[in-house]
Amino acid sequence: MLCAKYRDFLSWVIYQVYPRSFMDTNGDGIGDLPGVIEKLDYLKELGVNAIWLCPCYKSPNDDNGYDISDYRDIMDEFGTLDDMRALIAGLHARDMKLILDFVPNHTSTAHRWFQESRKGRDNPYSDYYYWFDAPPNDWKAAFGGSAWEYDAKRGQYYLHSYAISQADLNWDNPAVVQEMKNVIDYWVNLGVDGFRIDVVDQISKDFAKGQNCFGPNLHEYIHALFGRENTRRLFTVGECWVQDAEEMERHCAAEREELSTLFQFEHMECGRADKFTPKVGGMRKLRDILVKWQNVTADRDLLYSLFTENHDQPPMISRVADDGERRYESATCLAAMLYLLKGVPFIYQGQEIGMPSPCYDSIDSFRDIESINSYAELRASMTEAEALQKINFGSRDNSRRPMAWDGGEKGGFTTGAPWIPLHSRQKEINLENDLASERSVFRFCQRLLKLRAGNDAFLDGTFQVVSREEDDFFAFTRMWESEKWAVICNFDREQRITLPFVCEVPHLSNLGRTQADGVYQPYECAVCRVRH
Ligand code: GLC
Ligand code: CA
Repeated sequence: MLCAKYRDFLSWVIYQVYPRSFMDTNGDGIGDLPGVIEKLDYLKELGVNAIWLCPCYKSPNDDNGYDISDYRDIMDEFGTLDDMRALIAGLHARDMKLILDFVPNHTSTAHRWFQESRKGRDNPYSDYYYWFDAPPNDWKAAFGGSAWEYDAKRGQYYLHSYAISQADLNWDNPAVVQEMKNVIDYWVNLGVDGFRIDVVDQISKDFAKGQNCFGPNLHEYIHALFGRENTRRLFTVGECWVQDAEEMERHCAAEREELSTLFQFEHMECGRADKFTPKVGGMRKLRDILVKWQNVTADRDLLYSLFTENHDQPPMISRVADDGERRYESATCLAAMLYLLKGVPFIYQGQEIGMPSPCYDSIDSFRDIESINSYAELRASMTEAEALQKINFGSRDNSRRPMAWDGGEKGGFTTGAPWIPLHSRQKEINLENDLASERSVFRFCQRLLKLRAGNDAFLDGTFQVVSREEDDFFAFTRMWESEKWAVICNFDREQRITLPFVCEVPHLSNLGRTQADGVYQPYECAVCRVRH
């Protein structure tokens, strides 16, 4: 049984909204908060009870809102603070929760703090950022180039781990820690229920070791934010690239009062050799990594986050399964494989209709700063076609295309010109078509979430793997007291699967199976109660 502090979170099912691409209500081509409000009933119907909203704060949008110029206000394109209040009220009225994206590592250089800081070395904000007369090391920025940028006004270099306009905050300055506590309190007072914390591992740097993450004061800073009277009960999920279970424990053990859980990214390498290069064998690898983390988190009593995609990661279906002919089977099989494990499920917008990666024939169809910079770098050593193939595979825009609500001209997303071209397969794959089909991914997910909700075996029950590493399928059980369930997910080839126990008629399956044992089609899956 999971520790009391986090047990309730096992019943949360979180849907990640990328507001810019979710629903536009005023025809400017950009999704907005009223658009999210409009779709709350849709989300409730799917069976989610919380949303994580990507950043909505004031921002010049060099990195789509991850470059914040005011932590306490809403970006003009998305609406107003009143819209945010209405969203919170709308969620709470439906017994749903709101998780905001909190970006503590950097601000936009347009933020007032930075504008003051660059004025000189003796103003109240001068130490809010990292300033050096010369770059103290050769750190690289995640979006290309050096992480150090010269600012002529101040006559010094500042650190930016991401875009040039995203300056890293200096958390070793106690005033910064206090500012951030105030920001958290501001949103808690408005009624938010939790936070996803952007690149939280980077708020403490280790200059001595030459690494700009996991510095010596990291735990102190996280605890300062979330170990307080009014913040302890929040749901907090850190974007934190931990290497192993011990490291996860140091952030997430209940008594530490730091994070409830974190996103662990080991399985993100499934189906690719590097960010822009595919690799076969992803399904097996995905299974083995999931099994490993199910076991280590159970041993250490940690809350695990179940996710395979987000606004930075292309859809998993296109990397490890079949997004062509067997797209329906693949999407539903992946859902059964992930969401019946132990942890907090995260569904990324579009995943519930099996949205795969799109494909374009020009870099002009992309907007993401990382994709555009990477394309330029790739072009130095390859042809346009080769570079595009890589961007089409790995771009963050693969998951940032407007939600395909229908097959119409504008996909039901907007009445105007969308800020980014619609998904290249939107005419074929959209919610309207999905719901009209007998093979609906949405309806399968809905049934899956219904089965999971209120079922102790799936919520808090023990996990046991049944398949072996050499198998081309994933079978596992979840057990609570005398109730035991089995989940069987076949991989890419037709094969006979025989379980070491007897099951009842499948409760749920994606191809209408009537028996747990027997021949499975590629990506066929079944969920059955095990007979005593
Ligand atoms: C995180 C976000 C990503 C953003 C970066 C910088 O990785 O998920 O979208 O670009 O941090 O804030
Ligand atoms: Ca809009």
